[in-house]
Amino acid sequence: TVDQRLDDLLGRMTLAEKVGQMLQLDARGDLGEIIHGKLAGSILHASPETLVAAVEQAAQTRLGIPLLTADDCIHGHSFWPGATIFPTQLGMACTWDAELVERVARVTALEVSATGIHWTFSPVLCITRDLRWGRVGETFGEDPHLIGELGAAMIRGYQGDGLTDPTAILACAKHFAGYSETQGGRDASEADLSRRKLISWFLPPFERAVREGCRTFMLGYQSIDGVPVTANQWLLDEVLKGEWGFTGTLVTDWDNVGRMVWEQKICADDVEAATVAVRAGNDLVMTTPAFFEAAQEAVARGMLDEAAIDAAARRVLRVKFELGLFEDARPPDPARQAQVIGCREHADLNLEVARRSLVLLTNDGTLPLLPAGSARDAAGRLGMTADSSPTIAVIGPNADDPQANLGDWAGASGQVDWMPDGHPRDTVETVLDGFRAVVPSGWTVTHARGAEIEVLVPDPQGPLYPDGQPRPAVSQAAPLDPAQLADAVAVASAADVAVVVLGDTMALTGEGCSTATLDLQGGQVALLDALVETGTPTVVVLLHTKPCVLPPSALRAAAVIEAFSPGMRGGRAVAELVLGRIEPFGRLPVSVPRHVGQQPTYYNQVRGQHGDRYADLTQEPQFVFGEGLSYTTVEWSDLTLDTADVSPDDVVTATVTLTNTGDRTAYELVQVYVTDAVTSVTWAAKELKAFQRVEVPPGESVTTSVELPVAACTIVDAAGRRVVEPGDFELLVGSSSRDADLQRARFTVRAPSTARPSV
Ligand code: IFM
Repeated sequence: TVDQRLDDLLGRMTLAEKVGQMLQLDARGDLGEIIHGKLAGSILHASPETLVAAVEQAAQTRLGIPLLTADDCIHGHSFWPGATIFPTQLGMACTWDAELVERVARVTALEVSATGIHWTFSPVLCITRDLRWGRVGETFGEDPHLIGELGAAMIRGYQGDGLTDPTAILACAKHFAGYSETQGGRDASEADLSRRKLISWFLPPFERAVREGCRTFMLGYQSIDGVPVTANQWLLDEVLKGEWGFTGTLVTDWDNVGRMVWEQKICADDVEAATVAVRAGNDLVMTTPAFFEAAQEAVARGMLDEAAIDAAARRVLRVKFELGLFEDARPPDPARQAQVIGCREHADLNLEVARRSLVLLTNDGTLPLLPAGSARDAAGRLGMTADSSPTIAVIGPNADDPQANLGDWAGASGQVDWMPDGHPRDTVETVLDGFRAVVPSGWTVTHARGAEIEVLVPDPQGPLYPDGQPRPAVSQAAPLDPAQLADAVAVASAADVAVVVLGDTMALTGEGCSTATLDLQGGQVALLDALVETGTPTVVVLLHTKPCVLPPSALRAAAVIEAFSPGMRGGRAVAELVLGRIEPFGRLPVSVPRHVGQQPTYYNQVRGQHGDRYADLTQEPQFVFGEGLSYTTVEWSDLTLDTADVSPDDVVTATVTLTNTGDRTAYELVQVYVTDAVTSVTWAAKELKAFQRVEVPPGESVTTSVELPVAACTIVDAAGRRVVEPGDFELLVGSSSRDADLQRARFTVRAPSTARPSV
């Protein structure tokens, strides 16, 4: 058995070898030192050549323990030129489609495993709160239930039918936990969180991940109430490993152990930091080389029990056995790479995901440009037909920038030295490429850039890390170039419709890269104002990592499409949507505010009192969680429940009828929320509990049912227990989280729960 093999192996290992297994080092360092000096059990960020060499060298160590290789392949294989890059997690979340997300992860696993990487640091299960945070685009949005569903799907896709399958890779639930509860959106700032709040909102997606069999977890950087998560014995040991029974490997984030000395300053030196980290329950220490000597010293001084090192090394070695690495070290497989990386089938799936991720936020009727059925002689509102010869002007700084499609963790130029140019230009379809590819022959596509987003200047606050690596910062306002603007205005004025593609850049997003505002930066607002002024119907397409505050001119534009970072095929999907070759499908997984000062705007906030509002602005977001339009109109009616009187072990079935009153197919998202009328502690006004996609053909009615286990209607009481409290509930069913979009029905829970409530 695995346990017998572990006993045998650990019995033959020296203390240094066991501590080495607890180290994950940056493969961009000196490989000899990593493998033979520090005896590291794992590496990350290896170039293809380094990876081959490292696996070979590990096999030559005294015991030949195989190396565990890892990277951040979080929406496709980030660091392999030409590999499939899907929409980011936030984009994927707009699909609300767990089955599709599972297929994305499976494809990612196929590509990643072929390159000799055993482990991806994904999915991100953080809950988006303040949108100024630079890592919003890496999340599945703001709702714990949606995050749990999509995260579970991703874990299934990565880990496949079992870890011994050579196409399976380890999933990693991160960042455990509460990392996104920032102050002012600033990355890694202390999270002001009580245990009850953690249990209520932040932990459920992670508990779900353990139940789904996720074999690794990664910590956040931050501290909670004075305790860095790296040192949080309650969270790591009691909750994760104890209560939830997690038996996999827990990895820190980048130099978390060192940070307790040099940043958070809760440890005097590396020996103390190693002691604190091991005692708290960390198994694998990412990029803290000093841990190697420090942990051995801590044992020598009697500060750490060697048994604690044994336990941690055992957990790292366990996943190596589970992957079957002792039988097959799974080096890169060039034949499989040639077969799978960026292959046609994966590109097709990528297009499908991009199509389903686009959210139509506003539309004055201009879209779609071509009418239902695309009859060649039928005209859309602008009078265009497949046989006419209109001009579409595709404008904006993100209209033809491949990186705007790809988003973060996608080999942005210079992110890693072995991929200096990122993904080859011809593997990415920008919005401009998309229009050129899909417009009917006889249509003209013109282009102007119109404005810049940012100019890079040296970081006025100095480098982010003590190693002195410079980080670019941004000038918040790239100067407006009047000639560039005039050119765009002329191009738009000469067109029948303008599509303006706006957003952010990699310098404005990501780890350690939050923003103080949510505005469109640089010359973008001036560009949009000028385009809308031309009178040419203007469609705004947002290609950015996270939501922004829209300027007034965007709300006066003909339509707004939220695309986030839609991946390699995203530009084609956008063009198809504008033309009407596909229907709008996506729904927002985050609320979009009207003003940065409204942060946070997540929909499931705890019920407040009469003063919980602004005097100068509504707290209503611009667009609510779950929102998204179709190209048709759908009426919702006749919500009924099969029972109004239930016990906590029952299932309530809600039935509702959707009638499509337009002439195009609707892909509606039936969203089911619950309100607990009276709770023993203050609780959210409504919470998403289920969702289901329904296709409604033009002119037809579809009656659909959704099941809701009463055990899901929980709150977390004052003692931190998740319970169903008997009493009155409301079930809210509709097309978004907005009250006006929801129908209501009441039910009463009679007896206290006997079953364990679900998260
Ligand atoms: O996986 C990431 C994490 O999300 C942020 N810090 C660095 C890690 C490894 O690249």
